[in-house]
Amino acid sequence: MTTTVVVGNPKPESRTLAAAVLLAERLSGGAPDHVIDLIDLGAGLLGWGDDNVASAVRTVQSSSLVVFGSPTYKGTYTGLLKLFLEQFPGGTGLAGVVTVPFMLGGSPDHALAADLTLKPVLTQLGGTCALPGLYLLDQGYAENPALATYTQRWRPTVEALAGPAGHGASR
Ligand SMILES: Cc1cc2nc3c(=O)[nH]c(=O)nc-3n(C[C@H](O)[C@H](O)[C@H](O)COP(=O)(O)O)c2cc1C
Repeated sequence: MTTTVVVGNPKPESRTLAAAVLLAERLSGGAPDHVIDLIDLGAGLLGWGDDNVASAVRTVQSSSLVVFGSPTYKGTYTGLLKLFLEQFPGGTGLAGVVTVPFMLGGSPDHALAADLTLKPVLTQLGGTCALPGLYLLDQGYAENPALATYTQRWRPTVEALAGPAGHGASR
């Protein structure tokens, strides 16, 4: 299984990134193979054909499991993550990739944001969106029982879909 974490936070090395890495570790049983902090791609995300952006897209497309993480801004995922997702062709851009929509937020008011805003985009890009979104409060996210509940519930599905027996076999 090749695992990648993608985080769209204008703040580098953020809590969202740390939380997304933890989620990927607990879902896959090991450290992610790749961690892409999208802010590192800078203005390359504002156009087409940037080499570093193209390389990040290839990394995602050749992964079997990708956690897409974002802080919650105004009830939705960030424009930075959206800019990256714009780089993938609709329908097929995430074909064969098991995708996990993940958001960190400051308020429980937006607990459905990952399911209502991020998951539909990953679906439209052709990802295997078998898992529901996960939304965690930023305070004490690592100890939040919702994280353990989610990973215990969904790890077998990830193994079946993205592990050696699933389509992760070829990635
Ligand atoms: C510009 C901005 C907008 C935000 N909007 C929301 C929001 O609508 N809902 C929410 O729950 N938290 C909101 N927050 C809080 C962040 O989502 C939350 O603190 C998140 O954990 C930040 O992640 P980070 O520590 O990785 O940067 C906002 C924070 C910022 C900076």
